[in-house]
Amino acid sequence: MSKLIGNAVFGQSGGPTSVINASAAGVFTEALKQTGVINKVYGAAHGIVGILNEIFYDMGQEDPAELELLKTTPSSALGSCRYKLADLEDDETDYKRLLDVFKKYDIRYFFYNGGNDSMDTCNKISKYLQQSGYECRVMGVPKTIDNDLFGTDHCPGFASAAKYIATTIMEVYLDARVYDTGMITVIEIMGRHAGWLAASAALAAHKGYGPDLIYLPEIDFDLETMLTDVKRIYEKEKKVIIAVSEGVQTKDGKFIPELVGTVATDAFGHKQLGGTASVLADYLKEKIGCKVRGIELSLMQRCAAHLASQTDVDESFLAGQTAVRCAVDGMTDFMVGFQRPESGPYQCDIKLIPLNEVANTESMVPREWINAEGNFVNQKFIEYALPLIQGESKIAIEDGLPRFARLKKVRVKLD
Ligand code: F6P
Repeated sequence: MSKLIGNAVFGQSGGPTSVINASAAGVFTEALKQTGVINKVYGAAHGIVGILNEIFYDMGQEDPAELELLKTTPSSALGSCRYKLADLEDDETDYKRLLDVFKKYDIRYFFYNGGNDSMDTCNKISKYLQQSGYECRVMGVPKTIDNDLFGTDHCPGFASAAKYIATTIMEVYLDARVYDTGMITVIEIMGRHAGWLAASAALAAHKGYGPDLIYLPEIDFDLETMLTDVKRIYEKEKKVIIAVSEGVQTKDGKFIPELVGTVATDAFGHKQLGGTASVLADYLKEKIGCKVRGIELSLMQRCAAHLASQTDVDESFLAGQTAVRCAVDGMTDFMVGFQRPESGPYQCDIKLIPLNEVANTESMVPREWINAEGNFVNQKFIEYALPLIQGESKIAIEDGLPRFARLKKVRVKLD
């Protein structure tokens, strides 16, 4: 494989995670080491949008200590986007523009960090560059708290969100039991189409402080079935905790907030979720009459860097670092993925998955990991998730508060 010399660009896309910047740290530190192959390392502001608008930061001018702090800094440090590239047959405008920008900045390495929609973008760009005859190595770097990327055992970002969700539910469990009166608590967990995150509430149950019921998008949601489940537990215990995915839908395809109003959609046609806990809490209050609290974990579950899994931080960094190493070695058109041995102790091994296989295919919680009633997950999920949440990330502290990375973000200006 011939040596490809040029510049590299890295962009972040889609919803952030508490460890997404660990992948950025992996890409930047590795790319900056590739002297003689990668000349300049650029960060694109707001992913593909920054490339289209030529807003690049020169990562070589950042203090290495700040790049190190990215490992424990949540949210997308370069800014993210939800920008959908049109299909090439329908509109070539963005593709032509991207190619012009790649040529102008001599970009020969493109690393895109995101979930399903972002891997679709990455795949489209990769194929367009290939058919244009422009030599550029393209690698997807996985990320999504939803854990639904195809072909990989798990996704960077999932484990830290799972650890936060399980820990928070354990704490809420204690609080929700202090009074001698009845109480129902509905906890809403992210996950647009897949129930991996909601299932992680079972990790709290595994420790004896978990929900009584878990509802996942993999199973059609029915209000009356939930009411029957809740009544059964309430009559016996006077306390019920429900973990519900924001992504649950009725059998005619309605998200819960759509039962009481209309919801907006984004560029990818995804409904703006959130509000499920509050709708269900109102419903249960009316039907059962006791005190009901609806708690939406919302953004906290994906930006809680103080509770990140060290395994997740390390693997996120590894994903970024591997993408660069593979590209420099001649690989292109893949997403970095993970696999683990079928038996024995947990170990994270790398695999490469063709981008066209990843794009737009979602991975769901297997039906056999969900109980027959469709309102909890079994031991298989616990065995899957427990190794991923191991280890406590040590965040830097200044004046008693987190010290996040402060990037200079020096804009690239071509002469
Ligand atoms: O990236 C996945 C995700 O965090 C989903 O869990 C959630 O439904 C969605 O993003 C929220 O999107 P946004 O940040 O655009 O509101």
